[in-house]
Amino acid sequence: MTVCYFTASGNCLYVARRIGGTLLSIPQLMKQDSIEIEDEAVGIVCPVYKAILSMMTAYAAVFVQRFVLQTISPLLTK
Ligand SMILES: Cc1cc2nc3c(=O)[nH]c(=O)nc-3n(C[C@H](O)[C@H](O)[C@H](O)COP(=O)(O)O)c2cc1C
Repeated sequence: MTVCYFTASGNCLYVARRIGGTLLSIPQLMKQDSIEIEDEAVGIVCPVYKAILSMMTAYAAVFVQRFVLQTISPLLTK
């Protein structure tokens, strides 16, 4: 599993570490021209800032729009 995280004060990094797997920093990923992640499962951990209906932060939302996610479902490959 790959976990992309964005953290300001460290809470989301703590959560990402608890989930485990490959941890990728969203600010580091955003420096890349293209963001391509290939894994069976990809999670995003980010803070909620002044949210309505638990929307993710605008920064993480931009990240989601940018990255290309190729999920390889074990169910589909069987
Ligand atoms: C400016 C600001 C606005 C926040 N707004 C919300 C909110 O609307 N709803 C909520 O549940 N938490 C809100 N929080 C709490 C953060 O989501 C929470 O502290 C989070 O764990 C921070 O993650 P981080 O330590 O990885 O940066 C807010 C925090 C800050 C600093």
